[in-house]
Amino acid sequence: MIIESEKDVTPVVLGEYERIKNPRLREIMAAFIRHLHAFAREVKLTEEEFQAAIGYIVALGQHTNETHNEAVLMSGSLGFPTLICLLNNGNRGQTETDANLLGPFWRLDSPRTKNGDSIVRSPTPGDGLFVDAWFKDTNGKPIEGAEVDIWQSSTEGFYENQDPVQADMNLRGKFITDKDGHISFRSIKPAGYPIPIDGPVGDLLRAAGRHNMRPSHLHFLAYKPGFKTLISQIYDPNDKNIETDVQFGVTHHLIGNYVRHDEASTASPDVKPPWYTLQHTFVMEGGTARLPRPPITGKAEGERPEIPHLERV
Ligand SMILES: [Fe+2]
Repeated sequence: MIIESEKDVTPVVLGEYERIKNPRLREIMAAFIRHLHAFAREVKLTEEEFQAAIGYIVALGQHTNETHNEAVLMSGSLGFPTLICLLNNGNRGQTETDANLLGPFWRLDSPRTKNGDSIVRSPTPGDGLFVDAWFKDTNGKPIEGAEVDIWQSSTEGFYENQDPVQADMNLRGKFITDKDGHISFRSIKPAGYPIPIDGPVGDLLRAAGRHNMRPSHLHFLAYKPGFKTLISQIYDPNDKNIETDVQFGVTHHLIGNYVRHDEASTASPDVKPPWYTLQHTFVMEGGTARLPRPPITGKAEGERPEIPHLERV
């Protein structure tokens, strides 16, 4: 069909993509085209704005490399991964869930670490943190033998793969749950951190007067065949940005009970007050155990990066 007017464009395009054989891809593409065209009609998108949009998509790719993933940050800055997560977990959005965003910094092959051991692998300042976590199925039965990856930022707000100053695999570890579904480890209290703002994500945040901080959190990834891989983060309620996470990751259910202790630790006399404990019980849903693809694969070299802070205005 030859297009006569703007009204013809959507049906012509939809008609052509009805040819897609894969039914799920056909469904997705039809909805995508309908919403994309409706969006342009609703905002009466100008030619200049369309050119700018293409420029932003190109810039997402240009700002992505083996140590930085601008596409992950942009999707997070629009709240999209949280929406996808909550639509697909907790019995498809019906119940609370421990599932949360993967973020860019997970790595394969975290060092296997014994329960109770420390994940601090090079001198790292910060308050001591002792974590106990339990993993259960949806009936409350402990899950034994799950592999649990932990990763976190330093007090300066850097993951080791962003930070040439930290040892390889600092603040990472892989633990195996015992017969009670339990893991424990020692670390330092993580800090909130700024996301980079030298690309299209920074332009968007500045336009909206948003800050670029993630509130302090610990990452968890639990893997065991027979269960859907659980990707989670546990947030610090006392972080000043807990309600305005730049990546919209914080859900009520994942605000952790970090407890501050101001007395000396009898179990670990080398730990100076204040120190913290954190306990959390995770529920793993039945499903397919699959590991995600690491969003970045490189480790930063040279100088520690300087990431500017944006003020919320
Ligand atoms: Fe993180």
